Amino acid sequence: MRALVNTANPEKPLEIRDVSDPAAASNEAVIAVRAMAINRGELRLMAGRPDGWRPGQDIAGTVVQAAADGTGPKEGDRVVSLVDQAGWAERAAAPTSRIAVIPDNVSFEAAATLPVAGLTALRALRVGGSLLGKRVMVTGAAGGVGHFATQLAARAGARVTGIVGHAQRGQGLAKLPGVSLVVGYDNLESPFDLVLESAGGASLLASIRAASDDGDVVVFGNSAGEETSLRFREMRGSMRIHAFHVYGTREPPTFGEDLGLLASLIGTGDLRPQVGYQGSWNEARPALYALRDRELEGKAVLQV
Ligand SMILES: NC(=O)c1ccc[n+]([C@@H]2O[C@H](COP(=O)([O-])OP(=O)(O)OC[C@H]3O[C@@H](n4cnc5c(N)ncnc54)[C@H](OP(=O)(O)O)[C@@H]3O)[C@@H](O)[C@H]2O)c1
Repeated sequence: MRALVNTANPEKPLEIRDVSDPAAASNEAVIAVRAMAINRGELRLMAGRPDGWRPGQDIAGTVVQAAADGTGPKEGDRVVSLVDQAGWAERAAAPTSRIAVIPDNVSFEAAATLPVAGLTALRALRVGGSLLGKRVMVTGAAGGVGHFATQLAARAGARVTGIVGHAQRGQGLAKLPGVSLVVGYDNLESPFDLVLESAGGASLLASIRAASDDGDVVVFGNSAGEETSLRFREMRGSMRIHAFHVYGTREPPTFGEDLGLLASLIGTGDLRPQVGYQGSWNEARPALYALRDRELEGKAVLQV
């Protein structure tokens, strides 16, 4: 079969090569991949991994081989899944606990936006507990995680402030009840009960300053790749700063259940995936560069 393989060459970071078919463990189903999404974290991973390494976490497609242990979806089911790597291929093996069947009216492209970004948004918001009536701030609101986090928080009853890079970003979000968008950090109506922060550098400091004395700041990224200079006096009252890793939440391995929830919300029209780039996997470079250069809003999706 064919797969997208890391080249370690920045001029052409990925190329399609012939590789072996996936060998599924007994708790894994094999999925014929139809659409895949790229995450910012994977840009960093690809740059650091050698030629021949196989990336790919977000996949959607059709089950062509059910798991031997009898769990999970059956052959022919349309599914979405989160895998650790090697998902950007014609076929990929995935543990059934990380697979969800998608509603008929949800496209593979829409479903593929969900795994890393949707699960991160959902689980990072859960750190804040009940969001009814709370004030929530989301940095990088126009990004893959940010779009989902902003929508999910508003849907859960929060008043949400999304931080965007410029005024053209997040137009769809701005129309949602309970959501307001702000460019930069100078005119924030703080304090916030919960802040989701992933831009890093000055954004991390601004996020801590914007949180309430009893607020939660959930830090899950550093898109800017910049350091933050922080003094103890910035940490007021009993505020909490949490490190969040989507693979490391202290929850049982329920990725599949959460993916099913997110896919059903797309199916009912209650969650809108923002696809800023869509194209064939034969030419992945424009998608990678657009994501790297902040030229797209939301997710970059490739079709097999
Ligand atoms: N810990 C985890 O488990 C986990 C899981 C998923 C993602 N992450 C991390 O969380 C971050 C967000 O992920 P994502 O998939 O939503 O990324 P994304 O789609 O690229 O979105 C990032 C957003 O941050 C904004 N941003 C502000 N300053 C930036 C800068 N200096 N460089 C790049 N973007 C900047 C951009 O919006 P504007 O251009 O409008 O400013 C962009 O929309 C990434 O750093 C990612 O690696 C971590």
